[in-house]
Amino acid sequence: MTDSRIKVHPVLVVPEKETVSFFWNHTPLTAKKDEMISSALFANYIKIFGHHHKDGSAQGIFCANGQCAKCTVIADGVPVKACMTAVRDKMRVESVEGLPRLPDTSGPPKISNVEQIHTDVLIIGGGPAGSPPPSN
Ligand code: FES
Repeated sequence: MTDSRIKVHPVLVVPEKETVSFFWNHTPLTAKKDEMISSALFANYIKIFGHHHKDGSAQGIFCANGQCAKCTVIADGVPVKACMTAVRDKMRVESVEGLPRLPDTSGPPKISNVEQIHTDVLIIGGGPAGSPPPSN
């Protein structure tokens, strides 16, 4: 079966990208390099990423921009937002059925390559609620 990616577009050029492999619930699938997990799953006709712990409702893409966490999956043992996390070669992605398990780690996660910037003003947490009202 072919994937559901757009291969020809009347206006935009669809770039060729390297193919990587990953696993969805132990099933091998392919993705494009640097593609978000959610896009790779949709391209492989997978639109339900898990089920809610309260009522069993299907979970998947809702906002598609990192705001809602409805797309949460387990990637290499860590809960991540599928719409904000790129597939890596050989990544093991699993559905979340109920509440996700916390990763088996000891101590805080390792953070590296943090960019340092200097600025006069810094706004933290400026999500949709912090947006200015639309101007007419
Ligand atoms: S779909 Fe909302 S955070 Fe991914």
